[in-house]
Amino acid sequence: MLCNIEESNMTKNNRSPAGWDAVANWYHGWVGEKGSDHHRKLAIPAILDLLQLKQNEALLDIGCGSGVLAAYTHEHQVVYTGIDVSERLVKIARQQHTGTFIVGDARRLKQQASIAPQSFDACAFLLSIQDMNPLEDALHSAAYALKPGGRIAILMTHPCFRIPHLSGWGYDEGRKLQFRRIDRYLTPQRVPMKAYDGNRSGNTVSFHRPLSAYINALGSNGFAVDALREITTYKQPRDKATRRAEQEIPLFLGLHARKVNE
Ligand SMILES: C[S@@+](CC[C@H](N)C(=O)[O-])C[C@H]1O[C@@H](n2cnc3c(N)ncnc32)[C@H](O)[C@@H]1O
Repeated sequence: MLCNIEESNMTKNNRSPAGWDAVANWYHGWVGEKGSDHHRKLAIPAILDLLQLKQNEALLDIGCGSGVLAAYTHEHQVVYTGIDVSERLVKIARQQHTGTFIVGDARRLKQQASIAPQSFDACAFLLSIQDMNPLEDALHSAAYALKPGGRIAILMTHPCFRIPHLSGWGYDEGRKLQFRRIDRYLTPQRVPMKAYDGNRSGNTVSFHRPLSAYINALGSNGFAVDALREITTYKQPRDKATRRAEQEIPLFLGLHARKVNE
C-alpha cells in the first residue's frame, strides 16, 4: 500500500528510520566487503566518475551503510568519513573498512559534534537519498557540511523510470518490442519495501519523488547542478527486444552539483 510522503518514516523508538538495522545482516550478506555486482559494475564506478576525487580531499559518505564506498576511495587517498543511522551497519563498516564511521541522522548533521560545518570537499549519496525524508533536510545537512564550492554526488534509481511498485517492463506482441510502463510519477510516494531476509525481520521504506523535487531542493539549498548522467544496465540481455529496451531506458540517475551559495 502506498501512502503520502508526509507520513513520518520513523519507527516508534525514533532511532532507525526505514528499519535498516533490522535488515543489516541481510544487506551485509548481499553487499559484502567490496559491493554486490550491482555496486561494482554500476553504482561505484558511476559515483566515482561524478565525484572526481583528489588526493587529501575530505569526503562525507551520507547513508554509508556497511561502508562499501570506503573500499574504493582509499586508492584516491582521500580522508573518508561515513555516516549512517543504522548502528548495526556502522558496526559492520568499522569491522571491514578503514575510515571514520559515525552513527547519526543525515537530516540533522548540525547536531553531530564530529561533523564540523564547512569541513568537507565532497559529499556522496550512494543509493541512499531515496531512503531519506524530508529530502530538504538531507540536502540542507550536506550544504552545512560542505566547504564553499564543495560538491555533491548522488547516485540513485531513476525517479522517472524506476518507481517502486509503480513501474515495470511490458512486451508489445504486435510491435515485438519491450516497453516501460509508468503508472504514476508526479505524486510523491512513501513506499514500504519488502522484508528481505529469511526471517522477514524488517522492512525498509523508500521515497519516490519526481525529478523536479531533486533539482528544486538542490537549488533551494544553494547547489547548482552541473552534470546529470542517465545510466542503463551493465547486464547484456540475450534477446533483442530486452537488450534494446534496457539500453534505451535508464534505470539509474547520477547528479553532480556544486555549493554556490551560503
Ligand atoms: C540502500 S542503503 C545504501 C547504503 C550504502 N550507501 C550502499 O550503497 O551500500 C541506504 C542507507 O541509507 C541509510 N539511511 C536512511 N535514512 C538515513 C538517515 N536519515 N540518516 C542516515 N542514514 C540513513 C540506511 O540506514 C541505509 O544504510
